[in-house]
Amino acid sequence: MKILLLGKNGQVGWELQRALAPLGEVIALDRSEGADLAKPEALQAKVREIAPEVIVNAAAYTAVDKAESEPDLALAINAHAPGLLAQEAKRLNALLVHYSSDYVFDGSGNTPRTEEAATGPLSVYGRSKLLGEDAIRESGCQHLILRTSWVYAARGGNFAKTMLRLAAERDQLKVIADQIGAPTGADLLADLTAQMLPTLRARPELSGTYHAVASGETSWHAYAQYVIEFARARGQVLRVAPDQVLAIPTRDYPTPAQRPLNSRLSTAKLQAAFGLRLPHWQQGVERMLMEIL
Ligand SMILES: NC(=O)c1ccc[n+]([C@@H]2O[C@H](COP(=O)([O-])OP(=O)(O)OC[C@H]3O[C@@H](n4cnc5c(N)ncnc54)[C@H](OP(=O)(O)O)[C@@H]3O)[C@@H](O)[C@H]2O)c1
Repeated sequence: MKILLLGKNGQVGWELQRALAPLGEVIALDRSEGADLAKPEALQAKVREIAPEVIVNAAAYTAVDKAESEPDLALAINAHAPGLLAQEAKRLNALLVHYSSDYVFDGSGNTPRTEEAATGPLSVYGRSKLLGEDAIRESGCQHLILRTSWVYAARGGNFAKTMLRLAAERDQLKVIADQIGAPTGADLLADLTAQMLPTLRARPELSGTYHAVASGETSWHAYAQYVIEFARARGQVLRVAPDQVLAIPTRDYPTPAQRPLNSRLSTAKLQAAFGLRLPHWQQGVERMLMEIL
């Protein structure tokens, strides 16, 4: 299997380099290697030159707040480029794997959303991700769109590292308690992708959109408390104890982009179609903490 991986140095892209390796020849590129999603002609030429059987697009414009002031660039990378990749996949009879976000939803209610639930993005980023999904679905190419949430990786910066740094510097932390979702490891997403790819190639009727998040749910506030408690139990010297992490509502932490309050995603469709289980979010977070502590 010849696989073209785009965005190889992002959180998910980095883990995909490892997870996809056993499946075949992986040609992994970043934007400096002729795979800039903001340069459609060069991107198209690169895809045609490589002629892969599978395109895995882990590249995206992910600066959620900055997107509010750079909508054209966010749309070019998150909507137009996936559309182009889908057209090229269709032309090559290739499979396109793409990642999307809980931000395509408006975050109302308090139950998990299915793949068929009505969308209603609140931000430029969310709209750009939804348009990218739509372009892929409309192209008619065989595809796997994995909608995920709250992605973290051991490599690079992440929410847990920020909380641990602040907990060492300050006497108390204030963290948003009314956004609910599931922290999902980039390693889990990459492993799921590698597990799903051969099944999908054998059963093209499974082509479609799936929610792919760790199981369970939490708030950013409870997530921060969990991380601090785990680190202290492992001997980290932190000034802030879990009960000094104060819960605040989203309205007390204004940001340029509005975020959904309810990011719960149902993974029943993925689990049933592919016979896979999604581990609890704490399992992945603990693994990541063991790596960084
Ligand atoms: N992070 C989350 O919490 C989250 C939540 C839900 C869904 N997702 C989705 O999951 C996927 C993977 O996200 P991630 O967390 O791995 O993001 P990430 O760590 O920000 O990685 C994104 C990658 O895209 C690359 N990129 C940006 N602009 C590009 C361009 N014009 N051409 C080529 N590459 C470009 C970046 O390269 P540079 O480093 O050079 O900029 C980076 O390597 C994305 O589709 C994202 O929308 C993420």
